[in-house]
Amino acid sequence: MLSKELENLIDTNEPILTALSNAAALLYHSIERINWCGFYLFDGEKLLLGPFGGKPACTTIELGKGVCGTAASERKIIRVADVNEFPGHIACDPVSQSEIVLPIILTDGRLFGVLDLDAPMKNRFSDEDEKMLSEIVTILESKFSAIVERIGGISLLV
Ligand code: SME
Repeated sequence: MLSKELENLIDTNEPILTALSNAAALLYHSIERINWCGFYLFDGEKLLLGPFGGKPACTTIELGKGVCGTAASERKIIRVADVNEFPGHIACDPVSQSEIVLPIILTDGRLFGVLDLDAPMKNRFSDEDEKMLSEIVTILESKFSAIVERIGGISLLV
């Protein structure tokens, strides 16, 4: 259902910023019991804050740092049941208690960025949530790849 909505919402003829903004808004307002949902975008060196729903957040994250930087450098999903237990977790908002970060990889293999969701309680994200979010990210990867290909690069992001 959410996948279908996202699929219909993102028009690959529109700018990447448009796609990112609407994707962040849809996810933030559709997924229950979260306090932040958004994108960090890879500029070729580090992650920079992109469109999101929730309170203002940390703007720059080095690769390998925090949950986002680790998910980006290892290119794997990281689910943290209790952020206090994750060494190096970057606390943008002390309310956040659990978190899931999914890397976004373009079809040509380049790292695009990550999708980050935070929740105000521990153990918010289940196996089922991870599966659903992976499907969402697969759609995003395909949409963003089409836009990046059309505009000839991700220059807007740097
Ligand atoms: N907690 C993240 C930083 C981003 S905020 O949660 C929005 C991290 O450790 O990478």
